[in-house]
Amino acid sequence: MEINQKIAIRHDKVARIFSRKKKKDKSMQDLAIEIFGVKFNNPIWTASGTFGNGKEFQDFVDLRQVGAILPKTITVHERKGNPLPRIVESSSGLINSIGLENKGVEWFVKEVFPFLKATGTRIVVSVAGKNKEEFSECVTFLLAHCVPDAIEINLSCPNVAHANTKYSLFAQDPEASAEIVSAIKKIARVPLIAKLTPMVSDIREIAKSVETAGAQAVALVNTYPAMAIDAETFKPLIGNISGGLSGPAIKPMALKAVWDVYKSVKIPVIGIGGIMTGIDVAEFMIAGARAVQIGTVNFVDPGAYGRILKEFGDYLDRKKIKKSEELIGRLDVGSLAK
Ligand SMILES: Cc1cc2nc3c(=O)[nH]c(=O)nc-3n(C[C@H](O)[C@H](O)[C@H](O)COP(=O)(O)O)c2cc1C
Repeated sequence: MEINQKIAIRHDKVARIFSRKKKKDKSMQDLAIEIFGVKFNNPIWTASGTFGNGKEFQDFVDLRQVGAILPKTITVHERKGNPLPRIVESSSGLINSIGLENKGVEWFVKEVFPFLKATGTRIVVSVAGKNKEEFSECVTFLLAHCVPDAIEINLSCPNVAHANTKYSLFAQDPEASAEIVSAIKKIARVPLIAKLTPMVSDIREIAKSVETAGAQAVALVNTYPAMAIDAETFKPLIGNISGGLSGPAIKPMALKAVWDVYKSVKIPVIGIGGIMTGIDVAEFMIAGARAVQIGTVNFVDPGAYGRILKEFGDYLDRKKIKKSEELIGRLDVGSLAK
């Protein structure tokens, strides 16, 4: 071999090692986020009811990459859910009325939790009930059999009737919301997240009330009440007549809710609503979210998680931000009052 050739090969090797090192430096960003003392690999979680129980997405998403998996909300007893059809597409969104169909907490601890635990990913379990007794019974059974990283208390499902409140959703009533959070607080030895509805005149009031009751974080928003009609048949397109709207249509309203709540409570805010891209994730964090959840996008593209995570990393890279934490609440309102 010619000496020049040998030198060229060596140069090539050095260049490749150098470029590998450069690539490695790029991934040195710290995406990790700490919430209530628990470290999450990244701030992007899946939203309850939109990612199955995790298992259904294993062929599309590397589940170990996910910041936290939130399976479908569970209740103490099995629920059959609402009449069909339960999902309809609308402009820039999805209307659903699933009605919290699930096989109950006993099935969950046997069939779902062990699978999720084996992935090594953080698990946040979403629970609901018709009254505080049902919520408590569900959590008691859950915690007797497994230890999730946190519990999300679903105070805001628009598709189920509640027994114990003058409002249609617990999260529309500061007292009822606080009562449920306090009841669970007494029995739970894991962090509690209260999931709120945007369908209130002042979401800050509800957030403050669950904070006082002991919630360690708030997640917002759940869906907005909505309906769709077929003008040819005069029939509603949802079996339950109406449902909840999610997807890009709600993003601007969800951002506003996150910003409002971020300024009024001390506990972390988890932002949800219409996130489709890594830039959307950044926007929610700039508005004050410490983590986000992605929902409807999983129906559009079951492999969306990996893309969104990459886009978020690329954004941080482009903005020369080393830690995703640096984004939280960084909204630049200039000389306007915060
Ligand atoms: C089909 C469907 C089912 C849902 N089921 C639940 C549920 O069981 N529990 C819950 O807390 N939220 C549920 N949600 C609400 C989502 O978790 C999320 O709050 C909402 O869809 C807004 O986020 P997105 O616009 O990213 O979808 C559901 C949403 C959809 C579209």
